[in-house]
Amino acid sequence: MSRAGFRVDGELRVPGDKSISHRSLIGATIASGVSRVRGILPSADVHSTAGVLRALGAAIPPLADSIEITGLGLRGLRAPSVDLDCGNSGTSARLLSGVVAGSGLSARFVGDASLSRRPMRRVKAPLEQMGATIELPPHGGLPMTVRGSTLHEIDFRSAIASAQVKSCILLAALTAGVEATVREPSRSRDHTERMLAAMGAEVWTNDEAVLLFPVSQLQPLDLEVPGDPSSAAFFAGLASLAGGGELLLRRVGVNETRTGFFAALREMGASVELESSVRESGEWVADVRVSGGATLRGISISGEAIPTLIDELPLLAAIAVYAEGETRVTGAEELRVKESDRIAAVVQNLRTVGAEAEELPDGFVVRGTSPTLRGRAVTHGDHRLAMAFGVLGALPGNEIAVDDPDCVMVSYPGFWTDLERVTS
Ligand code: S3P
Repeated sequence: MSRAGFRVDGELRVPGDKSISHRSLIGATIASGVSRVRGILPSADVHSTAGVLRALGAAIPPLADSIEITGLGLRGLRAPSVDLDCGNSGTSARLLSGVVAGSGLSARFVGDASLSRRPMRRVKAPLEQMGATIELPPHGGLPMTVRGSTLHEIDFRSAIASAQVKSCILLAALTAGVEATVREPSRSRDHTERMLAAMGAEVWTNDEAVLLFPVSQLQPLDLEVPGDPSSAAFFAGLASLAGGGELLLRRVGVNETRTGFFAALREMGASVELESSVRESGEWVADVRVSGGATLRGISISGEAIPTLIDELPLLAAIAVYAEGETRVTGAEELRVKESDRIAAVVQNLRTVGAEAEELPDGFVVRGTSPTLRGRAVTHGDHRLAMAFGVLGALPGNEIAVDDPDCVMVSYPGFWTDLERVTS
């Protein structure tokens, strides 16, 4: 691949943050009053959360650029008459299991084949410690039946840094009206805490734990959803591989629990600048300027940095193919239980198309040999794999076919159009 003549220029506004979009629908539903949300991500995963909330009695309108939601209050949900279908979305299943349990309701959560394989014992343990009953099949995935009852307070030490587990507990405690303390081995994304605090909840964070105290009601949201840094990452990665040019990614969420990929790109030698930072509804938002032309070098990532770029690690592996030397990621065993086994899938695909990569039990090693890549990437229906190989396929000289390009609908429906736009 010759980078010399390849430029990525212009501006792009990526769609709304997926994590914040899920939370805005949940927050607006359990608030008292009318919430206003602008820029929500209308992707398949967020539609799953909207569908589940509607089945629980919430008045969620069709997802549009500007929506209003009349909240039902902290105790306003009703028992569903249908299974709660979370599609491909782990965030829907895990966060909403907390809401259902805290509301004292019973419901059965189902999902697609990928979600049905994903571990749910991580939410069963704390919810049962609070007094709910959770039934899982022997493999520990979906279908999951939640039987709510009167919950009691919890002090939970999680073995994994997971925002989904943390948020499940916080939402269960909030809707049940009890205290919760959640301790994690390292800090996971904190959008739930920030949003709840902006709505008047009593949520406190210190170095060791997140604490939540009961409140009788939440104020409605008035929120403009920031651009998703996990979506912006694909274009930041692409621009940093270009031989020249400059891409300005507008209004990207730069919450420090999410910006590990931008930091990693910088450590690899790329030029990534944050400009015009502002704080909106408790979240930091900035324009991200990425310039091409730098020589990238391999890096090592482990430990506390991992949760800050967990969803970007398949992309990092892809970018590392063009970084001098070796890139090594460890401490990322969580990747094996995402929408696919992302360690096995990314390494296998990199090898198939002609790169040098190796699996580790808890990560991977990629050797940056800058080859021309050819072949078919198998996504296993995983949106982040499709987009990572989409980026590699957009580089001049490479010829990569992605087996299931439509799976990007899960998080970034306009990805292929945006890719075409910035590279033509
Ligand atoms: C998410 C948290 C992360 C992330 C997922 C979305 C969220 O998962 O991988 O895509 O919105 O809370 P974990 O918290 O389970 O690591």
